[in-house]
Amino acid sequence: LDNGLARTPQMGFNNWNATHCSGDFNETMVKGIADLFVSSGLKAAGYQYVNLDDCWALPTRDADGDLVPDPARFPDGIKALADYVHSKGLKFGLYSSAGTKTCNSAGFPGGLGHEKQDAALWASWGVDYLKYDNCNNAGSTTTQQYIDRYSAMRDALAATGRPILYSLCEWGVNNPWMWGAPVGNSWRTTGDISDKYSSMLSIFKKNVVLAPYAGPGHWNDPDMLEVGNGGMTDTEYRSHFSLWSIMAAPLLIGSDIRKATPATMSILTNKDVIAIDQDPLGVQGTELSNANGLHVLTKPLSNGDRAVALFNENATAAAISTTAAAVGLPKAFGYQLDDLWSHKTTETAGTISAVVPAHGTVMYRVHAGGSWWAYPPAVHTNASLP
Ligand code: DGJ
Repeated sequence: LDNGLARTPQMGFNNWNATHCSGDFNETMVKGIADLFVSSGLKAAGYQYVNLDDCWALPTRDADGDLVPDPARFPDGIKALADYVHSKGLKFGLYSSAGTKTCNSAGFPGGLGHEKQDAALWASWGVDYLKYDNCNNAGSTTTQQYIDRYSAMRDALAATGRPILYSLCEWGVNNPWMWGAPVGNSWRTTGDISDKYSSMLSIFKKNVVLAPYAGPGHWNDPDMLEVGNGGMTDTEYRSHFSLWSIMAAPLLIGSDIRKATPATMSILTNKDVIAIDQDPLGVQGTELSNANGLHVLTKPLSNGDRAVALFNENATAAAISTTAAAVGLPKAFGYQLDDLWSHKTTETAGTISAVVPAHGTVMYRVHAGGSWWAYPPAVHTNASLP
């Protein structure tokens, strides 16, 4: 969506993966997350949006037809919470559904038919981001019905005059990548992620082939991060974070970082990997090869470097190998490989390879011209390039 937002994939937090609708989802949690964004370096690393998911409202609209924040979870209301988040230099996001009700069985009100009123209310509260779900969608079957429901809210948000990032949570059911770019800033490409390696892997495989549809202002969304929720190993979480970054996915933290381990924090704040996700060229990486679960992915970067991820989906360690030429780098006497997880730099004449642990990912930023190039003795002239 060409609304000036999400020129690089959105980064932030959403409570859903950590809490669903449990009582932990409340004002104390959200304020605590905003505080931590500032104190733990997450804000400095680029995380910006603090977002609420389903179950923030009461099941019934008020006499004026307005949505009402649940006073048990949010005793000071949503506006006060948004003000608090803004006071930390962060942005605030909310959730609704393009249906008569949201997804939760308690039957919270959806936005269908209330688009203008709800958008105006959210804008008056200072909302900067809307995640718009797809439950109770009035029996939509045709693609046009999907487009119409999501476009109605796009137009209502635009009419408020407030910049509001618009995230389509349509679960990929009606090929939103085919029609989403003029409608939303991102669209879900799959069903819900769960905190398991098998779930992360299958979502990666569905999302990676959709690279041609992504770009600045309109991203494929393979769902929020599970890093730190405890169902995967740290090696698997590093793969999750690497793959989402090379796919230029939104990076929405989905764990309660008030309880995060140092390993979780170091994954989420890896600025070198985040820089791959946030590269201003805005190209989603693609898969060069997948030899029986040994994946090579590459993403062009704005300064001419390439990101390369060597991902081993299998349960035993294996060597994975590619070349500078195969990932699209120009001919050079040497290449510098910055390992974005070990933070070691090596050089190569062209081979890019590593022994990758089970379920692990080795991620490089590859730069044509190593230190050999930096000491230009006479033998290394352009004329002698191979
Ligand atoms: C389905 C969405 O895909 C989830 O991310 C979450 O928002 C739930 N609905 C909330 O009910």
